[in-house]
Amino acid sequence: MRILFLGDIVGRTGREAISNNIEKVRNRLKIDFIIVNAENATSGAGLSANHAVELLKAGVNCITLGDHAFDQQEMVNFAEKEIRVVRPLNYAKSAPGRGARLLELHNGKKILVVQVLGQVFMKRPFSDPFEALESELKKYNLNGNVDAIFVDIHAEATSEKNALGQHFDGRVSMIAGTHTHVPTSDTRILPKGTAYQTDAGMCGDYQSVIGMDKSEPIRRFRTGMSLERFKPACGEATLSGLIVDVGSDGLAEKVIPFSYKGLLNQHGMD
Ligand SMILES: [Fe+2]
Ligand SMILES: [Fe+2]
Repeated sequence: MRILFLGDIVGRTGREAISNNIEKVRNRLKIDFIIVNAENATSGAGLSANHAVELLKAGVNCITLGDHAFDQQEMVNFAEKEIRVVRPLNYAKSAPGRGARLLELHNGKKILVVQVLGQVFMKRPFSDPFEALESELKKYNLNGNVDAIFVDIHAEATSEKNALGQHFDGRVSMIAGTHTHVPTSDTRILPKGTAYQTDAGMCGDYQSVIGMDKSEPIRRFRTGMSLERFKPACGEATLSGLIVDVGSDGLAEKVIPFSYKGLLNQHGMD
């Protein structure tokens, strides 16, 4: 099973890059299942129901969210009814939707998609992601009742992502970080067989400050004062993430970083 995971979609340019390219990427690279993080897809903050439908129609198989999961009010109802949307597992207990979804591929194989939020340097205190993931994984067995398990670790601190990756090595197929919007170059298979990358990067305009038009972030850093809301940068987006081949034992056989279009285009598909 070949899985493509793409990091945080930021704004319209990120959404358009997905809509215009995702089927081409799927066909050329023979991808079986595409997961994207879309927590910043609508105006940089959250994901509207319309935009979620647009991404799913374009060919995305599953959407993960993050700390911005419910910035768009309509996601409250949408996450409840759409099984292809995954919000953080360790969000508030009363949060709508699910933090883990078991989905079936066209060939009948099953993949579990899970997301956890980190605790370090995050705006709100979320509950322990280690414990949340431990208890969720008790229900599943790789190569038993599930063929692949993907975990999106949505966190700020590299160290916390590393710790989660190492702790769950060998129990899931792949772990990819999101939230910092900058791809890391540590893509590898961990010793017990889990594919890992600390951050998948973003699907957005890299001529920016983590996807946002750069003038307001620079002003805030320099003066501590805000003049206007952050708005997504609108130059051509790069699709950024990783591709993992999962073997019949549910562990990773191969992992490669992926970036296509825009400034970071490295994949050379054209
Ligand atoms: Fe994000
Ligand atoms: Fe985030």
